[in-house]
Parts: sequence; C-alpha cells; structure tokens
Amino acid sequence: MTDTATATPRIAPGPRGAPGFGSLVPYRRDPAQFLLRLQRDHGELSRLRLGPYTVHLATSPDAVRRVLVENQANYVRGKLYDQFKLVMGTGLLTTDGRQWRGHRRAVQPAFARKAIDAIIPNVVEATGEMLDRWEAAERAGEPVDLIAEMMRLTLVTLSQSLFGYDIRDRTPLLKRVVDESIEVMFPHGYVSEMLPQWLPTARNRLIRRNRRIFDRVVDDIRERHAATGEGVLVRLAEEARDPETGEPWTDEEIRDELLTIYLAGHETTATAACWTLHAVATHRSVREELEGELSGVLDGRAPTEAELPTLDYTRMVIEESLRLYPPIWLYPRDAVEDDVLDGFHIPGGSSLMLSPLVSHRNPAVWENPEAFDPLRFTPAAVKERPRMGYFPFGGGPRMCIGNLMALMELKIILAMVTQRFRLEPVPGDLTRYGDSVISLRPMGEMWVRLRAREGGRAHG
Ligand code: HEM
Repeated sequence: MTDTATATPRIAPGPRGAPGFGSLVPYRRDPAQFLLRLQRDHGELSRLRLGPYTVHLATSPDAVRRVLVENQANYVRGKLYDQFKLVMGTGLLTTDGRQWRGHRRAVQPAFARKAIDAIIPNVVEATGEMLDRWEAAERAGEPVDLIAEMMRLTLVTLSQSLFGYDIRDRTPLLKRVVDESIEVMFPHGYVSEMLPQWLPTARNRLIRRNRRIFDRVVDDIRERHAATGEGVLVRLAEEARDPETGEPWTDEEIRDELLTIYLAGHETTATAACWTLHAVATHRSVREELEGELSGVLDGRAPTEAELPTLDYTRMVIEESLRLYPPIWLYPRDAVEDDVLDGFHIPGGSSLMLSPLVSHRNPAVWENPEAFDPLRFTPAAVKERPRMGYFPFGGGPRMCIGNLMALMELKIILAMVTQRFRLEPVPGDLTRYGDSVISLRPMGEMWVRLRAREGGRAHG
C-alpha cells in the first residue's frame, strides 16, 4: 500500500468494459461475484464504469479507514442513495450534514448500552415464543424456513422494544411490503427507473401504495404512543428539536426517521441470524464448541444481562458469520473533491463503493478467507489485524447506530436456539448469496429440520 499523502496519484487499474455500458452487464448478473473477481484480478483499488458513472471499488484497510474516518467529510451519500429516498424519505440513512447530525444526536439515547440492556427481556420472550412454535413443528416432523422465522422475530422485537408496538398481526403484510420496497431501492437499470415519479407506471404506483401502508403503520405507532407513552424511539422523535431553530421535527421528519429505523433495523439482523444459524448447522466442530460453552455458562437457561458478555465463543461465531456473510455487503459514497486512495486518483464527483463482503475476503488480510473459523476473533488474533479490515457495521461517525442492539439480539437468538435444537439444512436446499438487495440474503428460502436437544430447554 502506498502512502496516500506523498505518492503521485495514478489511475487505478480495472476492466475495460463495453462501450457505453462499461461493466454494467456482468455487474448486474452477479454483483457480489463480480466485485470479488475485481479484487482478485485488479487488486485492492480498482476502477470501472457502470453505464455513465465512473466508480472505484476500495477494499484495503487503509483506503476504508480514509473514506469512513480520516477524510469522511469528503465522501457523501450521493446519487446511489437517491433510490433509497423513494422508500424511506430523508432519514438517518439517506441524509448528510446538518440534518443528519441533528437527527443522529436526537435518537442516539435509544441505542446506548443501558437502553439496549433494558430490552433484553423483550428479545428473550419473543425468541422463547418462537421456539415454542418450533417445538410443535418438530413434533409434526415439519421443517421451518429460517428466513421467514428470523424476519418475523426481529420485526416483532424491534417493534416492541423501540416503538412500544405489537406488530404480530401485521407481519405477513409487512414482509411483502418490505420485500417489494427493497427491490425498488436498489437500481437495476430498468427504463421504468428513469421515468419521472409522477407518471402512473406500475413501479410508481407500487412505490406509492407501499409508502401509504408504511405511513399508516407509523401513524398507528404514534397514536399508540400518544395514548400509552410507550416506545423510547417515538418519544425521542416527538421531543426532538432542531438545534438551531428550536423547532420540533415535522410530521414528515418523524415518519421518515421511524421508517428508516424500522427498515434498517430488522432485515439486517434477521439476515445475520440466518447465516449464523446455518453456519453452525453445517460446521460440526463449531456447533460442539458452542454447545459446550452454552451448557457451561447457561445450563439451559436464556442468557441474562450479566451473562451475555461472558459468552466469548458465541460472540466469535457471530463475528465470523458477519465476516463471511455481512448483511450490508456494499455501500456507496460520492467523492466531493479529488482524493488519493492507496496512491490512486479518486476524481471529485465520482462514485466509490466499499464492500465488507469483498474486504472480508481480501487474501492480503485474511488467511484462507473462505473458511468459517470463529477463532479468527480471539482478542489476540484481532489485535494482529488492521482494524478496518473488518467493518460489518461501517465505521467513523456514520457507523451503524444499531450495532449494540443487533449483537445483543444475535447472541440471545443463537444461545437460545442452540440450547434447544439442532438444525439440519434440508438436503437439496441450495443456499447461496442472493440478489444485490440491501442485505446479503440467502436466495429464496432456507429450510431446516429441527431436532430437539435432550434436556436443552432454554427458558426465559
Ligand atoms: C446485523 C445487523 C446490522 C448490520 C450488519 C448493519 C449494518 C450497517 C452498516 C454497514 C451501516 C453503515 C452504512 C453506511 O455507512 O453507508 C449501517 C447504518 C445504519 N444502521 Fe445498521 N446494521 C444492522 C442492524 C441495525 C439495527 C438493529 C438498527 C436499528 C434498530 C440499524 C440502524 C441503522 C441506521 C439508522 C443506520 C444509519 C446510521 C447513520 O448514517 O447515522 N442497523 N448499518
């Protein structure tokens, strides 16, 4: 890696691509594999064209640190995030500058350690309820679809914990609306995406219909909060004031922020839970080590606030799963001014992609990167590696606001499921990376058979 400050910047290497389209076609066919190939063939900093845009992919720890931390003010959300606004409006995920700073400060208390510890009982209860249902499925010899189960679980816990709202009756409807909205948020290069929003195309009608459904849910949540005072996040949003004008947030600001956290918070955690449970089910030695730790510390109980930090191996399994299958696997930025990354020129106005998926499989940082090995996350091993070689939750000021909450939920889910059941992937169920949607979902469904464990009942 070159010293960014002193070297003469060069043009980064990359594929030639087709005239007019650049690498759009192979990128669209399989974005994850395409970007992995880019790192293999052109190194840690590569340049490509996607249609009219010049884009760089930066995967070295030095470049990632410069973009997310050292020179973060130069890298804004940019044009690739505009599609997200169609669904989420202008919330934490899609804004920069003054608005972002004010909103982040206002909702931050809901995500502090103490607030997260307070919602542990909600997660334990919802997970326990799910496992009781699984018991019936096991007795009937029926497999369960992990994706549907985890989406429901994380939606229910998020809604209960931050919004004080019981969403159980609405989960089937919301699952469909969330899936359709995610599809819209990611550009596919269809002509319909380029048409103005006011035209009554099928896509625009779908966006508006789903937005109305989301808006109704958020209105219900606010009404319920007005009646009961429950829901820490709703309270913070209702009480928030603009730091300069002292004005309260508008209805639209409140709605967009609550919706952003709804969407950013549950699908990501559900995806991580699926991949983690699947990895444990398919790696016998990992499963045995994990079962050993859990029976030693918990002896069949659900973890308490004091016990969660002592589950070291459980933590390492989750961290390794977030390395190989980072749910937010790709995120874009636009460079405001020219910059230099790893000695290569980044023109102002061009787009840049960071990809935890590709960086987490960078052979310059990870030995045997494709292997699932939780021991990469012992404190000694972590100390040996450059810090920004691993960033499943991003980094710098824009780091995921929900990371403590996600890790707490994942630990509880993994501990409670593993103590009560062994999961066996249904033979023939091909699990591979999904589409290039927000999170790195397994394709289709992820069916597993359940085997109840003798005496391994995890109760709350
Ligand atoms: C395993 C689960 C999760 C993963 C892997 C994840 C990952 C990420 C990443 C990588 C970013 C940074 C994106 C960027 O810089 O462009 C981010 C931002 C964000 N995440 Fe998460 N996230 C998870 C769970 C959650 C949860 C549980 C919540 C809330 C309940 C949440 C809310 C947000 C929000 C609001 C942002 C935008 C923060 C800002 O820009 O200030 N996430 N997340």
